[in-house]
Amino acid sequence: RVPARFYHERVVDHYENPRNVGSFDKNDPTVGTGLVGAPACGDVMKLQIKIDDSTGKITDACFKTFGCGSAIASSSVATEWVKGKHMEEVLTIKNTEIAKHLSLPPVKLHCSMLAEDAIKAAVKDYEAKRAMAGAATTEQK
Ligand code: FES
Ligand code: FES
Repeated sequence: RVPARFYHERVVDHYENPRNVGSFDKNDPTVGTGLVGAPACGDVMKLQIKIDDSTGKITDACFKTFGCGSAIASSSVATEWVKGKHMEEVLTIKNTEIAKHLSLPPVKLHCSMLAEDAIKAAVKDYEAKRAMAGAATTEQK
């Protein structure tokens, strides 16, 4: 275990007071769920976004992470960053930006990678649901 003093205070803050911990109903059509794992360590992150169908903007976000402090801090930051942004825009969020914001050491880069992957997976999930709903309505006509 790396002593807490070696971590940047932002990591400790996000680890001790993680923002937006929780879950949305994954069957809600306005919710996108990204569930990703880090092969290197087995940690798992679930990040969910709520999207306004008419604007494509993310109105809310939450996460649950079973992982190290850096992974928890990264998901906490990710939920703060995606809120209020368009779902296309959040696809450009890079794990390196999150790592830089938290001053993560190089060995902890993969922890922030989980957050980038989870954002992408959540958007993809929402889009897939929307496409399916669209297909269903066309069929009914
Ligand atoms: Fe929370 Fe920057 S300290 S996102
Ligand atoms: Fe694996 Fe941090 S050590 S996510």
